[in-house]
Amino acid sequence: MDPKQWIDVTTEVQYSLDHFVIPDHYEKALTSVLIPHGVIMDRVEKLAKLIVQEAKGPLVVCCVLKGGHQFFADLINYIKKNVTRGGKSVPLSLEFIKVKSYSGTESGTVKLSLTDEECKEFAGKNILIVEDIIDTGKTMVQLLQKLKQFEPESVKVASLLIKKTPVSNGYIPDYVGFAIPNAFVVGYALDYNEYFRDLDHICVISEYGKDKYAIKN
Ligand code: HPA
Ligand code: MG
Repeated sequence: MDPKQWIDVTTEVQYSLDHFVIPDHYEKALTSVLIPHGVIMDRVEKLAKLIVQEAKGPLVVCCVLKGGHQFFADLINYIKKNVTRGGKSVPLSLEFIKVKSYSGTESGTVKLSLTDEECKEFAGKNILIVEDIIDTGKTMVQLLQKLKQFEPESVKVASLLIKKTPVSNGYIPDYVGFAIPNAFVVGYALDYNEYFRDLDHICVISEYGKDKYAIKN
Protein backbone atom coordinates (compact mmCIF):
# COMPACT_ATOMS: atom_id res chain seq x y z
CA MET A 1 0.00 0.00 0.00
CA ASP A 2 1.17 3.49 -0.83
CA PRO A 3 1.78 5.50 2.41
CA LYS A 4 -0.55 8.18 1.03
CA GLN A 5 -3.42 5.70 1.37
CA TRP A 6 -3.13 4.99 5.09
CA ILE A 7 -3.89 7.15 8.11
CA ASP A 8 -0.77 8.62 9.65
CA VAL A 9 -1.37 8.83 13.41
CA THR A 10 0.93 11.31 15.13
CA THR A 11 1.45 11.84 18.85
CA GLU A 12 -0.36 15.18 18.60
CA VAL A 13 -3.71 13.47 18.12
CA GLN A 14 -3.64 11.40 21.32
CA TYR A 15 -6.88 11.72 23.26
CA SER A 16 -7.23 12.09 27.02
CA LEU A 17 -8.39 8.91 28.75
CA ASP A 18 -11.12 11.01 30.43
CA HIS A 19 -12.88 11.44 27.10
CA PHE A 20 -13.56 7.73 26.64
CA VAL A 21 -14.80 4.76 28.61
CA ILE A 22 -11.75 2.85 29.82
CA PRO A 23 -12.00 -0.29 32.01
CA ASP A 24 -11.22 0.73 35.60
CA HIS A 25 -8.64 -2.02 35.89
CA TYR A 26 -6.49 -0.40 33.19
CA GLU A 27 -6.94 3.30 33.80
CA LYS A 28 -3.61 3.96 35.54
CA ALA A 29 -1.75 1.66 33.18
CA LEU A 30 -2.38 3.86 30.11
CA THR A 31 -1.30 7.37 29.13
CA SER A 32 -3.72 8.15 26.31
CA VAL A 33 -6.05 6.85 23.65
CA LEU A 34 -4.21 6.80 20.33
CA ILE A 35 -7.00 5.41 18.10
CA PRO A 36 -10.58 5.30 19.42
CA HIS A 37 -12.52 2.10 18.73
CA GLY A 38 -15.03 3.83 16.47
CA VAL A 39 -12.27 5.14 14.21
CA ILE A 40 -10.74 1.67 14.06
CA MET A 41 -14.08 0.24 12.95
CA ASP A 42 -14.58 2.86 10.24
CA ARG A 43 -11.09 2.21 8.92
CA VAL A 44 -11.57 -1.58 8.97
CA GLU A 45 -14.75 -1.12 6.91
CA LYS A 46 -12.74 0.75 4.29
CA LEU A 47 -10.00 -1.89 4.21
CA ALA A 48 -12.70 -4.55 3.75
CA LYS A 49 -14.04 -2.63 0.77
CA LEU A 50 -10.58 -2.33 -0.82
CA ILE A 51 -9.87 -6.03 -0.25
CA VAL A 52 -13.17 -7.04 -1.89
CA GLN A 53 -12.59 -4.73 -4.85
CA GLU A 54 -9.14 -6.18 -5.48
CA ALA A 55 -9.90 -9.86 -4.75
CA LYS A 56 -9.33 -12.07 -7.79
CA GLY A 57 -11.38 -14.98 -6.44
CA PRO A 58 -12.08 -16.90 -3.25
CA LEU A 59 -9.81 -15.91 -0.36
CA VAL A 60 -8.22 -17.96 2.35
CA VAL A 61 -8.17 -15.40 5.15
CA CYS A 62 -5.46 -16.33 7.57
CA CYS A 63 -5.59 -14.83 11.08
CA VAL A 64 -2.27 -14.42 12.86
CA LEU A 65 -3.03 -15.16 16.52
CA LYS A 66 -3.47 -13.84 19.06
CA GLY A 67 -3.13 -10.12 18.32
CA GLY A 68 -4.81 -10.30 14.92
CA HIS A 69 -8.06 -11.87 16.11
CA GLN A 70 -10.13 -8.71 16.67
CA PHE A 71 -9.09 -7.09 13.39
CA PHE A 72 -9.71 -10.42 11.64
CA ALA A 73 -13.21 -10.80 13.14
CA ASP A 74 -14.27 -7.24 12.28
CA LEU A 75 -12.72 -7.40 8.82
CA ILE A 76 -14.55 -10.63 7.99
CA ASN A 77 -17.81 -9.10 9.23
CA TYR A 78 -17.39 -6.08 6.97
CA ILE A 79 -16.50 -8.27 3.99
CA LYS A 80 -19.72 -10.23 4.60
CA LYS A 81 -21.73 -6.99 4.94
CA ASN A 82 -20.28 -5.78 1.66
CA VAL A 83 -22.04 -8.70 0.02
CA THR A 84 -25.39 -7.95 1.66
CA ARG A 85 -25.09 -4.35 0.51
CA GLY A 86 -24.85 -5.50 -3.08
CA GLY A 87 -21.07 -5.37 -3.40
CA LYS A 88 -18.97 -8.05 -5.06
CA SER A 89 -19.34 -11.43 -3.44
CA VAL A 90 -16.08 -13.05 -2.37
CA PRO A 91 -16.16 -16.58 -0.91
CA LEU A 92 -13.99 -16.81 2.22
CA SER A 93 -12.41 -19.69 4.02
CA LEU A 94 -10.78 -19.05 7.36
CA GLU A 95 -7.49 -20.20 8.78
CA PHE A 96 -5.74 -19.45 12.06
CA ILE A 97 -2.02 -19.55 12.72
CA LYS A 98 0.40 -18.80 15.48
CA VAL A 99 3.82 -17.72 14.33
CA LYS A 100 6.99 -17.98 16.35
CA SER A 101 9.93 -16.08 15.01
CA TYR A 102 13.44 -17.22 15.79
CA SER A 103 15.72 -14.23 15.51
CA GLY A 104 19.44 -14.26 15.98
CA THR A 105 20.49 -14.93 12.44
CA GLU A 106 19.80 -12.27 9.81
CA SER A 107 17.61 -14.53 7.66
CA GLY A 108 15.93 -16.18 10.68
CA THR A 109 13.18 -18.74 10.52
CA VAL A 110 9.60 -19.00 11.66
CA LYS A 111 7.77 -21.87 13.20
CA LEU A 112 4.07 -22.10 12.35
CA SER A 113 1.36 -23.78 14.39
CA LEU A 114 0.26 -25.52 11.16
CA THR A 115 2.07 -28.63 10.02
CA ASP A 116 3.62 -28.73 6.54
CA GLU A 117 0.88 -31.17 5.64
CA GLU A 118 -1.78 -28.61 6.61
CA CYS A 119 0.09 -25.85 4.74
CA LYS A 120 -0.17 -27.88 1.51
CA GLU A 121 -3.83 -26.75 1.47
CA PHE A 122 -2.51 -23.30 0.48
CA ALA A 123 -1.33 -24.50 -2.94
CA GLY A 124 -3.05 -22.57 -5.73
CA LYS A 125 -5.09 -20.43 -3.28
CA ASN A 126 -5.32 -16.66 -2.84
CA ILE A 127 -4.22 -16.04 0.72
CA LEU A 128 -4.87 -12.92 2.78
CA ILE A 129 -2.80 -12.79 5.96
CA VAL A 130 -4.38 -10.68 8.71
CA GLU A 131 -1.98 -9.28 11.29
CA ASP A 132 -2.31 -6.71 14.07
CA ILE A 133 0.96 -4.83 13.73
CA ILE A 134 4.11 -4.68 11.63
CA ASP A 135 6.97 -3.53 13.85
CA THR A 136 10.43 -4.60 12.64
CA GLY A 137 8.82 -6.44 9.71
CA LYS A 138 11.04 -9.44 10.35
CA THR A 139 8.36 -11.95 11.33
CA MET A 140 6.18 -11.10 8.33
CA VAL A 141 9.04 -11.36 5.82
CA GLN A 142 9.91 -14.77 7.25
CA LEU A 143 6.28 -15.90 7.26
CA LEU A 144 5.88 -14.89 3.60
CA GLN A 145 9.03 -16.79 2.66
CA LYS A 146 7.72 -19.87 4.42
CA LEU A 147 4.23 -19.71 2.86
CA LYS A 148 5.63 -19.28 -0.65
CA GLN A 149 7.18 -22.74 -0.36
CA PHE A 150 3.64 -24.11 -0.55
CA GLU A 151 2.99 -22.39 -3.90
CA PRO A 152 -0.13 -20.36 -3.27
CA GLU A 153 -1.58 -18.47 -6.25
CA SER A 154 -1.10 -15.18 -4.37
CA VAL A 155 -0.36 -13.91 -0.87
CA LYS A 156 -1.44 -10.50 0.38
CA VAL A 157 -1.08 -9.02 3.84
CA ALA A 158 -3.46 -6.76 5.75
CA SER A 159 -2.05 -5.21 8.92
CA LEU A 160 -4.11 -2.89 11.06
CA LEU A 161 -1.01 -1.01 12.20
CA ILE A 162 2.49 -0.30 10.97
CA LYS A 163 4.93 1.19 13.46
CA LYS A 164 7.19 4.03 12.38
CA THR A 165 10.35 2.64 13.91
CA PRO A 166 14.02 3.01 12.97
CA VAL A 167 14.42 -0.78 13.29
CA SER A 168 11.96 -1.46 10.43
CA ASN A 169 13.31 -3.62 7.61
CA GLY A 170 11.24 -1.59 5.15
CA TYR A 171 8.51 -4.19 4.68
CA ILE A 172 5.14 -2.62 3.80
CA PRO A 173 1.92 -4.71 3.73
CA ASP A 174 -0.64 -4.59 0.90
CA TYR A 175 -3.28 -3.11 3.23
CA VAL A 176 -2.53 -0.89 6.24
CA GLY A 177 -5.01 0.74 8.60
CA PHE A 178 -2.83 3.23 10.45
CA ALA A 179 0.83 4.15 10.71
CA ILE A 180 1.58 4.79 14.39
CA PRO A 181 4.41 6.51 16.29
CA ASN A 182 7.23 4.47 17.76
CA ALA A 183 5.43 3.77 21.05
CA PHE A 184 4.17 0.57 22.64
CA VAL A 185 0.44 0.31 22.04
CA VAL A 186 -2.18 -2.04 23.47
CA GLY A 187 -5.87 -2.75 23.04
CA TYR A 188 -8.10 -4.09 20.25
CA ALA A 189 -6.40 -7.48 20.93
CA LEU A 190 -2.86 -6.08 21.03
CA ASP A 191 -1.28 -7.11 24.30
CA TYR A 192 1.50 -6.43 26.73
CA ASN A 193 2.40 -9.78 28.33
CA GLU A 194 -1.16 -11.01 27.56
CA TYR A 195 -2.85 -8.04 29.28
CA PHE A 196 -4.93 -5.31 27.60
CA ARG A 197 -6.51 -7.53 24.94
CA ASP A 198 -9.81 -6.75 26.69
CA LEU A 199 -9.62 -3.05 25.82
CA ASP A 200 -11.45 -1.67 22.78
CA HIS A 201 -9.43 1.45 22.00
CA ILE A 202 -5.80 1.36 20.88
CA CYS A 203 -3.93 3.09 23.71
CA VAL A 204 -0.38 3.95 24.71
CA ILE A 205 0.80 2.05 27.79
CA SER A 206 2.17 4.08 30.71
CA GLU A 207 5.40 3.46 32.61
CA TYR A 208 3.24 2.37 35.54
CA GLY A 209 1.46 -0.12 33.27
CA LYS A 210 4.72 -1.50 31.88
CA ASP A 211 5.93 -2.09 35.40
CA LYS A 212 2.65 -3.43 36.80
CA TYR A 213 2.25 -6.00 34.02
CA ALA A 214 5.93 -6.82 33.53
CA ILE A 215 6.93 -10.47 33.71
CA LYS A 216 8.46 -10.72 37.14
CA ASN A 217 10.71 -13.62 38.10
N1 HPA B 1 2.05 -3.47 20.93
C1 HPA B 1 1.72 -4.78 21.00
N2 HPA B 1 2.38 -5.74 20.35
C2 HPA B 1 3.43 -5.35 19.59
C3 HPA B 1 3.81 -4.00 19.47
C4 HPA B 1 3.08 -3.01 20.18
O1 HPA B 1 3.36 -1.79 20.13
N3 HPA B 1 4.88 -3.98 18.62
C5 HPA B 1 5.12 -5.27 18.27
N4 HPA B 1 4.26 -6.11 18.85
MG1 MG C 1 1.51 -9.70 17.23
